[in-house]
Amino acid sequence: MKIIRTPRSMTAWSEGLRREGVTIGFVPTMGALHDGHRSLIRAARLQCDALVVSIFVNPTQFAPTEDLTKYPRPIAKDRALCRAEGVDVCFEPTARAMYPEGFQTTVTVPALARRWEGAARPHHFSGVATVVTKLFGMVQPHLALFGRKDYQQTALVRQLVKDLNLGVAILVRPTVRERDGLAMSSRNVYLSPHERRMAPLLFRSLQTGRQIIEGRKSDVATIERIMQQTIEQEPAIHVEYLAVCDPDSLEPLSAVAARAVLLGAIRIGSIRLIDNLLVNMSGRKVTTQVFRLTAEDCT
Ligand code: PAJ
Repeated sequence: MKIIRTPRSMTAWSEGLRREGVTIGFVPTMGALHDGHRSLIRAARLQCDALVVSIFVNPTQFAPTEDLTKYPRPIAKDRALCRAEGVDVCFEPTARAMYPEGFQTTVTVPALARRWEGAARPHHFSGVATVVTKLFGMVQPHLALFGRKDYQQTALVRQLVKDLNLGVAILVRPTVRERDGLAMSSRNVYLSPHERRMAPLLFRSLQTGRQIIEGRKSDVATIERIMQQTIEQEPAIHVEYLAVCDPDSLEPLSAVAARAVLLGAIRIGSIRLIDNLLVNMSGRKVTTQVFRLTAEDCT
């Protein structure tokens, strides 16, 4: 596996392969890789001839009060995972190379970034949209993979690729969860054992919401109240939002519809956790993956 650090070498590598007709798959990450990232890497490996994973803790998507400096950076372990999964290039640009002096252009997707994570973290999505656009420019992938775990991020990336004619196909993969339903996240390591035991309540609350919708018995306000009550069993959890939304616009639904996404964010101590669940009663089956890759899966 090649480690590439400069945007210029990254683009040169990709251009060479593209000229030969090789398809390039890309998984952008901030490192601290877990089985959620691994599932994206594996799916990409199956779809493309060459595979690039970027590891870049993007400062512009963190607010000054957030955990940028504390964000885990186990680079040796991350490279080992990439190597084991057959990644061809680990792209590890520096912040200076990504944002050199004089850098001033930003990408915003205002309507999709307005609510939920965007409201809680005002500059987060312009940081994400800008870095993803830049990474696409450097890596020049045919296909890029994202996790449904960050639902609003996937909606935003799809929109910006369409609006800016970036010509990258986007594939969104299901959320990989721990056995108790907690969505895997690089931030889960910060939960104390007691907090960790409470954390799956977010997923349980979303599942409850989905069951009620599927039973077609309630209105949106009642569903949101029941989801909230599921979590309020545990007073140490602070609910930031729990909402039934349109899966494309992410606007709150006023009436239960055949397609919806349930979005949730909670805070346990200083740790914010997000999750979501799709509801689709329009024929296509939506499956929820609850599994952890085992050692055998990884060989
Ligand atoms: P990061 O949080 O490292 O996530 C990288 C990718 O892994 C994202 O597409 C995310 O949705 C996916 N992912 C994380 N946890 C997952 C899980 N449990 N199951 C499935 N997929 C999961 O998201 C970012 O980095 C950044 O915002 C980035 C897009 C790299 C831009 O800086």
